This record gives sequence, C-alpha cells and structure tokens, in this order.
Amino acid sequence: MSDHDQVKMTPLNYAKDRPKAANPVKIEDLSIRDGHQSLFATRGRTEDMIPVAEMMDEVGFWAIETWGGATFDTMHRFLNEDPWERIRTLKRYIKKTPFSMLLRAQNLVGYRNYADDTARAFVDRAAANGMDIFRTFDALNDYRNFETVVKVIKECGKHFQGCMCYSMTEPRMGGDVYNTDYYVKKAKELEAMGADSICVKDMAGLIAPYDAYNLIKALKAAVKVPIHLHSHFTSGMSPMSHLKAIEAGVDIIDTCMTPYAYRTSHAAIEPLVMALLGTNRDTGFDIQLLAKINEKLEKEVMPKYKHLLDDSKVSVIDINVLLHQTPGGMLSNLVNQLREMDALDKINEVYKELPRVRKELGQIPLVTPTSQIVGIQTVNNVLFDDDKQRYKMITAQVKDLCYGLYGKTAVPIDAEVQKNALKGYARGEKPITCRPAEVIEPELEKAKQEIGDLAVDMDDLLIYALYPVTGKKFLQWKYGQEEPPASVRPTTIEQVKKRDDLVKKALAGELVEKKKGAPDKTDNARAFNVFVDNEYFEVNVDPVDGPPVISIAQQQPMAMPMAAPAPAPQAAAAPAAPSAPAAPAAKPAPAAKPAPAKPAAAPGKGAALNAPMPGMIVSYSKNVGDTVSQGETVVILEAMKMENALPAPANGKITAINFKSGDSVAKGDVLCVIE
Ligand code: CO
Repeated sequence: MSDHDQVKMTPLNYAKDRPKAANPVKIEDLSIRDGHQSLFATRGRTEDMIPVAEMMDEVGFWAIETWGGATFDTMHRFLNEDPWERIRTLKRYIKKTPFSMLLRAQNLVGYRNYADDTARAFVDRAAANGMDIFRTFDALNDYRNFETVVKVIKECGKHFQGCMCYSMTEPRMGGDVYNTDYYVKKAKELEAMGADSICVKDMAGLIAPYDAYNLIKALKAAVKVPIHLHSHFTSGMSPMSHLKAIEAGVDIIDTCMTPYAYRTSHAAIEPLVMALLGTNRDTGFDIQLLAKINEKLEKEVMPKYKHLLDDSKVSVIDINVLLHQTPGGMLSNLVNQLREMDALDKINEVYKELPRVRKELGQIPLVTPTSQIVGIQTVNNVLFDDDKQRYKMITAQVKDLCYGLYGKTAVPIDAEVQKNALKGYARGEKPITCRPAEVIEPELEKAKQEIGDLAVDMDDLLIYALYPVTGKKFLQWKYGQEEPPASVRPTTIEQVKKRDDLVKKALAGELVEKKKGAPDKTDNARAFNVFVDNEYFEVNVDPVDGPPVISIAQQQPMAMPMAAPAPAPQAAAAPAAPSAPAAPAAKPAPAAKPAPAKPAAAPGKGAALNAPMPGMIVSYSKNVGDTVSQGETVVILEAMKMENALPAPANGKITAINFKSGDSVAKGDVLCVIE
C-alpha cells in the first residue's frame, strides 16, 4: 500500500497547525532562480525578491533556490548587480531555510569547462558567501566533471546534491541507453561520490507520470539518500509526474510560487499543497501564507516583469516536446535558425536528421549546451551536405565534443564522424580519454595579472575570470571607473505604471510619433519591449517633464542567432577549452537592446567585415596594418553567449577597426575594413 492510500479521515481545515503527516513531501522553491530564468529571461532583481523573502522563509521549504544557472551572468551583465551580494543580502531576510544553487559542475555558472583552480575558488567563495546546497550537474552525465567541485563542497561541509540529466531516445523511458538500469547505475555512482541527495533533472519536462513512478521506485530501492525530482512543466506532464513520483516515495519536489509557475517553468506549489492535504504526504504548508505571498508578488513585483513573458502563443504547453521528446527551447531554436537561413521548408528533414546526428555524436542528453551542439550541427548537415559527403560543415563545438573536451558520451561517437571532425583540429587529432579539465591550464594567476587592482578581492577576480569582457565592464561600473548605462538601472513600480499607461495610449493611437523639435532623448530614457500579437517592438520612454516621446524602434528578430555558417576555424583566438557553447535552451529572450547606430567607417573600395548578428565584441585578433588572408579569424563576436569567430572576407591589409573589446554592435555594423 502506498502512502497516498492512507488518507486521514479527520475533518480537514486550512490551519497550519493541522496534524503533521507521517512522511511529508519536502518542497524546494525555485521562484527566484529557475522560475524567473525560465519565464522572465533571468532578469529578476534582488530588490524584487526582498518584499516576499521573510514570508517565504516562514513557509517551511526544504530549500529555496537563490542562485546559479544563468543568474551570475545576467546579474553582472544586464542588471549591474554583484552576484555575490545577492546571496549575502537574501541571507539577511531568509534565515531559516537553506539556500540552494544550480552548479554546472566544471562549467560552474558559465558555458565552458574552467580550470581546476577557478572551479575550486568558485565553490569555496559560494560556500563562504552563504550557499548551503550545491545542485551539481553535467550535460553528459560524466561525473569526472564533478570531481573537483565535489571535493570542495565536501571540504566546506555543504550539501552535495548530484544530478542525473533525464534524457530519452524513445517516446517512453527505455531503449538501449536511457533505461532504468542506466539511471540506477548513475545514482549508485553519485552515492559512491558522497552525494547527500540525488536529483532527477528533467530539464525539458519529458518524464511521463508512469515512468516517473517506476524510476523513483527503482531509485528508492537502489540508494539510501533522498531522491529529488526536478521536472519542468513545458510539456504539461509535470503535475501528473509529481503525483506519481510522490506515490512512489520521492522525497523532494521542485515547484514555484504561482506567478513564476507553468509554461517552461515548473508547476505551482499551491495546487500540490491542496492535492496532498490530509494525506500521509501532506506538505504541512499554510495555504493562506502562500496566498499572501502571491498577492504581494502580483501587486508589487510582477508588473515590472510581465513584459518579459513570451506571450506570442496562447498555449502554455509545448506539444512539440511530446511529439519529438526534444527540449522545447531546442526546437524553437531550430525553427528560428532555419527561418534566418530562409530554409524553413527543410524542418521535416531536420526532424529526421536530428536523431541520426545525436546517435552519431554519442547519444548525448539534450540539455544546455549539448542541445545546441546537436541542433546546430543537424541544421548544418541538412543545409550543406550532399550525396557524396556528410558533415561538410562541422562546428567548433562538435570538434571539441569529438576531442573529449566535454567528457565521455553515453555511447562512443561514430568513429568516422570523429576522425573527420578532428582533421586539423588545433589541440590534436587524437581524442583525449582523461577528465577534460586535466588539459586546461590554471587560469586564476593569469586573470589576476590581467585585471590588476580592479579586482579588489577573490569574488571580484572570479567575476572577471568567468566573464572576462562583461565582468571587467561590471567591475568598472562597480568601482566608478565607468558610468553604467541607463539600460542596467532598475525600474520602479511608478515608472511601470507610467509605461503601461503610455503603451495603452500608443496602441489606441492617442500618441503621435516623434515630431520635429521634440527634445533629444536623455539619459533617463528607458527601453521597453512591447509585444503586440506576433510583432515585437522596442519602445523608448523618456519620463522627463514635457510631452512624452514615443519612438518605435526597428522590429527585432526574436531568433537565436546561429554560428556564422562560413567555415570559421575557431581555434586560434577562442578561449581555452570548450569554445563557449550556445545559450541556455530557455525561450529566445529579447537580448540587450541594440547599440545606437555607431559611425561605421564607409567601406570605400575595401572589403567590409559586417556583424552578421547583433552582439558584443570579445576581441580582435588583428590590428590595423596587419595582413590577413581570406577565412582567417579577425574578430570574436559574442551573441546570445555563443562566441563566433568571424573570418576575413578577403585577402588584404586591415585599414580600419571600428570597435573595441566590450562594444555592442548591431547587425550589419562594419567591424573592420580590409583593402
Ligand atoms: Co531547471
């Protein structure tokens, strides 16, 4: 008999002092990390977490996820917030409930494998700043990528939660690779590494309710440590899977507060509390308190974020995930890539090629960054291959994967594909079999020399070591060396009200477009994204005295830019080890607003290298006066967290370089001129 059968027949009430369940299911709240990362482009500000922080501390959550994933990147880059400060600030309000973070193992909170010295320092500082639970995962489920960080988590006396990325190759759990035996074996590996709990990390919402039941049963029988289920709502199955997992004895479930729930985020806590009320797995939570938190969030916080919600579709469920067992974000990226290449008619070929490419690349789980690696290579194959040759255009990331820089794949990579990919590969043609970080040189000392006194302490140094370009920029803002741009300033609820009012008027045609003689845009101008049906506009609102100025900027593509399709050898100028892979599979959020048009040097008779997409200059690998040959890397451009090596369009001498490291560029900007 399972727990849920033993329903107490006593009269129920909503009181928080109702009789305690025999085996209450524990809940981790994800609202202020995965919730806003999934729905609001990770733009949540610390000041908007504080209003509910103390109340959330009273709920009785097993843990609150406060950090990790994309927060570190987004905070310093778009919010002008010190990521370390968030942990310390929230700790002052949330005193009882442990903090949890998502750690991408050797990738830390970035998109490539970092050196061991950086990894050790990062975990040590996260623990010192107040992190309690380290939810650790690796995209390939290669636990050698855990070794360095787990050692430090344990030394710091913190909770090591080991993840298994949930993946599948068939419509239901099973098949040759991702079957029950696979997960049981992985769970035992984690337990042997000292995991304090084990998390089934279902990033794409793939797990079906009865598979969840069977899997949790098998795991509970195989290991002693608590089992935790993390299943995104995306496909619509997760509330059912939660219930079946609870029946199977799962210990901990992840949920969000209602305003941060559903769509590509997680199921809400409130229905679960009511569903379990009075059973032996009753959470014991006070539903009235949860309602109070929701009310405060709706009134004081959500108005600032609702414009970030992807409302291009009415449906909150992505049915394609059910059809293809592939993460929703990955599918929409594929569609966007094809659209950009004017090849949307090839989508069915892509769906057909995808399982083949994935199999040839070692049947890897599809999670950031591997979902992008498989997705982009599939598109390349469909667009560029012919009858005689497959894999004509191999991405830098696939080369890295074939070399072993991400770790060991679930099954061996196809030998022919691997050999082809490593032909002329800069690190060598023979793949490595060791732990990937063993081939990465220590980084911190070099970073320290580069950044100098601008990094006051180890926390600063880590911001720079993890994100050299945007991290340096942030430190310049932090220490007053540079004025932060208006776009990183917080918005007040009054500004939001004014904006909503203006947008309403604008849509009703009650505001006219900018007239001659209108004041110039001041520093106070704030850009807002406005979604109307399927169109997306950027509206600048300048709240100075005098008439409000509304200017409708160009419509921006809501697509995820793909790596430049030109054959661009990425070895030389790219940073050490795995070339920064693609953005998280979250919805393609409107990125930073494009830089105002810059005076681009007229190409004249020379050949111009244009930015193929909006982005930020990481570095130029050439100087004015240098001679380059066609195809040679000249600029590294970062777009949606993917570094793109842009090749010289012609042979010649560089006569003009129009930007510098850290500059934002718009699509079409002339980056340099070659004559
Ligand atoms: Co998640």
